[in-house]
Amino acid sequence: MGSYTRLDDCLSIRDGHLFIEACDTVELVQRFGSPLFVFSEDQIRRNVRRFQRAFEAGWPDGPVKILPAAKANWITAIQYILADEDCGCDIYSPGELEIALRAEFNPEFISVNGVPKDEDHIYRCVQAGVRITIDSMEELDVIARAAEELDRTVKVRLRLKPAISGFVRHSDFVPEGLVPTDLAAMVYKGGLTKDQVIALGQRILNMERVKLVGFHQHHGRHHRSLRYWEEQMKAFARDLGEVCQALGGFQPQEIDIGGGFAVPRDPFNAATDYTAPVEFATLHAISRALKPLGDDLRYAVLARLIDTLLSEPNPTPAPSIEEYAEICTRTLRQELPRHGIRTEGLMLQVEPGRAIHGNAGIHLTTVRNIKHITSPIRWTIIVVDTTEFWFTGGRYEHHLHHYLFANKADAPLVGKADIVGRSCYGDRLLPIVRVPEVQVGDILAILDTGAYQEVSMSNFNALPRPAAVLVTGDRAELIRRRERQEEVFSRDIVPAYLQQARE
Ligand SMILES: Cc1ncc(COP(=O)(O)O)c(C=O)c1O
Repeated sequence: MGSYTRLDDCLSIRDGHLFIEACDTVELVQRFGSPLFVFSEDQIRRNVRRFQRAFEAGWPDGPVKILPAAKANWITAIQYILADEDCGCDIYSPGELEIALRAEFNPEFISVNGVPKDEDHIYRCVQAGVRITIDSMEELDVIARAAEELDRTVKVRLRLKPAISGFVRHSDFVPEGLVPTDLAAMVYKGGLTKDQVIALGQRILNMERVKLVGFHQHHGRHHRSLRYWEEQMKAFARDLGEVCQALGGFQPQEIDIGGGFAVPRDPFNAATDYTAPVEFATLHAISRALKPLGDDLRYAVLARLIDTLLSEPNPTPAPSIEEYAEICTRTLRQELPRHGIRTEGLMLQVEPGRAIHGNAGIHLTTVRNIKHITSPIRWTIIVVDTTEFWFTGGRYEHHLHHYLFANKADAPLVGKADIVGRSCYGDRLLPIVRVPEVQVGDILAILDTGAYQEVSMSNFNALPRPAAVLVTGDRAELIRRRERQEEVFSRDIVPAYLQQARE
């Protein structure tokens, strides 16, 4: 009988190898190549069902609809799974709209967010009968014109930006950690002020073909704590109350609280060690002070200081889906009636992105070189065949992912190294982390890479982007093939005069 350790719903270690569902990740790399994004169908379905159950448990007042944010993972096969789970879909762009329609989500539950929305896009939305979530003063005229010309009635919601004045802890979106969340949320481009929403609402209530059905808010993952969610819901209820009163006691049919729930192992901003500036200032000061005393002493002291540096992925799990659902629904049920809004029959919509896809995806990459620097300081650099340019979403959010070596998943961690990507930048994917004995050919698995990573890859260094695979049980299927080298140049045009100069 071999060894077996469960890491997650979809991840386990069996006889030293990392498995995703019933697939050995080492065999996935042998079959589909490296590097590779892998997604678990079962994990996506479980996450959706947990959101549905948890929000339904806290919201007996009316229907609950989960609208996973397509931007987090808009691969067509993934969107088919979500449509199959009877989800709605939060989309941001004309491209995401096409994917949502192709996956056959019910148009009533396709929420079209985004600013700006181009005129063609608005016409397409009106034609398709999807919900437009209005987020600018300019959109309404175009929507009204499209409704008239296409002879349609359009149901819209208005996106509010409530000031979360009750939550002033630092926003994780600002890595220096100095900006209070309420201010950071206020300067984000999404959402309208109360006055703008009231002005738009008053105009819509006088329109024939445009119907106001509800309101929306989304602030994103500024903070993982439950308090942040409690204060968001209080602020949303407070502003909704004022808006609805100004609209003559208007009662919405649906409200949408957006996304921003943390991934369970939460890699977000874990790369930002708030004590690091102090450590580096000390390093710099000591380095300068020792300069006149010669290299030997200086490097000996620096080596000791550098030995103390270590990055470790966040060890504390984020609150659970159930905890998030409980605080959101409890606060809304208390606060909405206090502000004159009835909850009976009110549909509650939620738009998680990262919390649906994050822990459903892993990235597999192979060790290509190992460089040991022995003098004047000791340092180990492990070069893998992926790059930070294929983790753009995560780099933007200063992720430090949990990781393990897929072919030696239970090996003891015996050393420290920088794990770096293949691009010509520093590409420090996992800087100064603990590692087992590593050899060229070992496979590194970077966990929780299911949201915002595969969909934000670029072609820096003219590198073709890797493939994506969907796993279900012991079955693995390609859902996005590896890019071919010639495709990287496929949009290039050489002007005729440059061609002619060669003839
Ligand atoms: C309107 C809207 N809803 C939902 C989301 C999903 O956010 P998250 O992935 O943090 O849950 C986003 C992300 O930016 C968004 O803009």
